[in-house]
Amino acid sequence: MTAEFVVVANRLPVDRTTDEDGNEAWRTSPGGLVTALEPVMRARGGAWVGWHGAPDEEVAPFVHEGYEVVPVPLSGQEVAEFYEGFSNATLWPLYHDTVAFPEFHREWWDAYVQVNLRFAKRAAEIASRGATVWVQDYQLQLVPRMLRELRPDLRIGFFLHIPFPPAEIFAQLPWRREILEGLLGADLVGFQIQGGATNFLRLVRSLLRLPIEQGVVRVDGSHSSLARAYPISIDTAGFQALAESPETLDEAQRLLDDLGHPKHVFLGVDRLDYTKGLRQRIRAMGELFAEGRLDPTDTVFLQVATPSRERVDEYRRLRDDIDLLVGRINSQSPTAGRPPIVYLHRGFPRQTMAAMYRIADVMLVTPLRDGMNLVAKEYVACHPGLQGALVLSEFAGAAKELRQAYQVNPYDLNGMKDVFVQALTDAPRERARRMRSLQRQVRTHTIDRWATTFLEDLSHAGSDRNQ
Ligand code: ADP
Ligand code: F6P
Repeated sequence: MTAEFVVVANRLPVDRTTDEDGNEAWRTSPGGLVTALEPVMRARGGAWVGWHGAPDEEVAPFVHEGYEVVPVPLSGQEVAEFYEGFSNATLWPLYHDTVAFPEFHREWWDAYVQVNLRFAKRAAEIASRGATVWVQDYQLQLVPRMLRELRPDLRIGFFLHIPFPPAEIFAQLPWRREILEGLLGADLVGFQIQGGATNFLRLVRSLLRLPIEQGVVRVDGSHSSLARAYPISIDTAGFQALAESPETLDEAQRLLDDLGHPKHVFLGVDRLDYTKGLRQRIRAMGELFAEGRLDPTDTVFLQVATPSRERVDEYRRLRDDIDLLVGRINSQSPTAGRPPIVYLHRGFPRQTMAAMYRIADVMLVTPLRDGMNLVAKEYVACHPGLQGALVLSEFAGAAKELRQAYQVNPYDLNGMKDVFVQALTDAPRERARRMRSLQRQVRTHTIDRWATTFLEDLSHAGSDRNQ
């Protein structure tokens, strides 16, 4: 089997799981990358090359939602060194402004090189002559160059879903040249916001001393690479339709029943990640309850957090901290009924997510740093009737587009508290005015437009083909 369009990502759209009784199943993989790319693949077809989420296991390719899924195996040691180690304990904190301390280990780097090569080889086997291969995210930054060496006939795109850091931070990385050279193997390198592309180009100029003109890096005599921003988005119409379906409305009613029909609902929805600003957000809400600015008898803060990267130390610490913080706030509540914070540490089906968005008067999206944040866009898409208010961190990529959100600095607790209350109590006309503007943005900037624009630019970018 070969394909003319191939996506290569660390994650597949589905994850293989095994329960305590040894029963195997597939479930939707966590995170924004899968939410964004799944509708692209359903619409375009082709092949998706990625890891199926379980160690030490070979899985044969299969068809899913009309496209080919091509699993790449990882050993237990590679999961520890490539995925948990270099990807999520080195690159992840480094690329998110070092909000946690990045660790540098030479064995982790060796595993990163080895696994990137495996992905590149698998993509080279699957891609037909002259095919377009679209490599995704920070786990696979060496793949573009490796793939170009294996298959110079391919058109290669790369998209980074997370921030690309300022030069001063990136420069800490002992393997900084190799990463830049790896990315430059692509004909087009896409970033979430222009700041990421600018950081990248500045580094290419200062560390590799390559000539750059209007975002195009001349890598060698026959190959050049364009760097540009392509803010990612969601299937807006799909989310809106889901939010308006009778099943979702029923589910929203059931949720309200479960919560005891509070007058006001605040909502947080995140992977349980230290970049998401959960500690600060929960502390701010706790203080608002303690000070009586929010009344726990009529207001609830519903926080859902998908388990994520649970074997990485920093994530373990975060999980314990959040359990402790929520427990402390709830135990100090003056009322005996429903606690002020309802904290659910698990994943939910998309329809349940839509129902939660529907019932939320205020959505709290307050990351310390985030490439884009699709939750913010999903919430807006689920409020076509203009109810609801979005509080958004100025450090999320989405803040560049969703200008009319209630923007906050997540490090400023008092500032956040004021804006949380303001978002709830502003006049309905003001809340609707802001939501109308946000709606316009997510309706016109959809995932389909993102993919079409990127792939159109990719078809013109880069080298003279060597077919
Ligand atoms: P990230 O890619 O860092 O996880 P995003 O906000 O861009 O952050 O994307 C998160 C995606 O995961 C969204 O599509 C959101 O709906 C989904 N999601 C987050 N939490 C949950 C949960 N508890 N259950 C199901 N889906 C979730
Ligand atoms: O860009 C966000 C992202 O890091 C994806 O690359 C990743 O697939 C997703 O979040 C979820 O993280 P993980 O794959 O480590 O569970």
